[in-house]
Amino acid sequence: PLVTTGEITGPAMAAGRGVGAFNVIQLEHATAITAGAERAGLPVVLQISENAVLYHGALEPVAAATLAIARAASVPVAVHLDHATDRMLVEQAVALGLTSVMFDASTLPYEENVSVTASVAEHCHRAGVWLEAELGEVGGKDGVHAPGVRTDPAEAAAYVAATGVDGLAVAVGTSHAMSTRTAALDFELIGRLRADVKVPLVLHGSSGVSDEDLARAVTHGMVKVNIATHLNACFTAAVRETLTAQPRLTDPRKYLGPGRSAVADEVARLLRVLAGPPAA
Ligand code: G3H
Ligand code: ZN
Repeated sequence: PLVTTGEITGPAMAAGRGVGAFNVIQLEHATAITAGAERAGLPVVLQISENAVLYHGALEPVAAATLAIARAASVPVAVHLDHATDRMLVEQAVALGLTSVMFDASTLPYEENVSVTASVAEHCHRAGVWLEAELGEVGGKDGVHAPGVRTDPAEAAAYVAATGVDGLAVAVGTSHAMSTRTAALDFELIGRLRADVKVPLVLHGSSGVSDEDLARAVTHGMVKVNIATHLNACFTAAVRETLTAQPRLTDPRKYLGPGRSAVADEVARLLRVLAGPPAA
């Protein structure tokens, strides 16, 4: 069923488990990620980025399909608008029934970030929508690798109190769009952030993090773990392998299908890594 992101992250935070949030670009991503979550028997967040909306030219078609897939799922699935900088798009997402939003004002000066995010939070909360914001730019988009940025725990706690956001993306050593899983995470900082910040912490750019460090990041306090690039690499590798082996294929189902299977397998595996060992 479709649930809010808070219904997934709240219990996960209380139990010390991590939750996978995976980016949807096309229909095959949404079906693959959901199939992987069903196989693992674990909840999942399907997220559509503002960039994906720009690619499609509109939010509604991709959101409607993703919401329908979430409603039909046998495990709890949330549908999230990721990295939105356009307030109109946030309002549209709320109106369409998405269950959470990340409003990214992380490039604005602190005071401006606080005031605009607080007003977006009010709008989201009126509709029961869970709002994530970012403090300390994770960076790495447009090829800029910025692993050195860090979120200050005291500032993070003050920011959450001032804005009323429900989840906070923090900069702890990851960087977006890494093609190797070699990020060096600041586990000590994650622990301090968890101690000071009362809402679930969100790790962006998690494609750059090894399995072992994903599990450790969760143990230290990360809750929502965003992974996009790594799944695209799995998808595209399977498509490329299929087309290379069968260069005369023309039916997209014959090469997108293997991409979809590869993503489902990897999502099931990653969700188990993030959930940690089953409670005794
Ligand atoms: O918001 C999405 C994530 O931060 C994805 O980052 O593509 O580096 O995994 P990634
Ligand atoms: Zn991100």
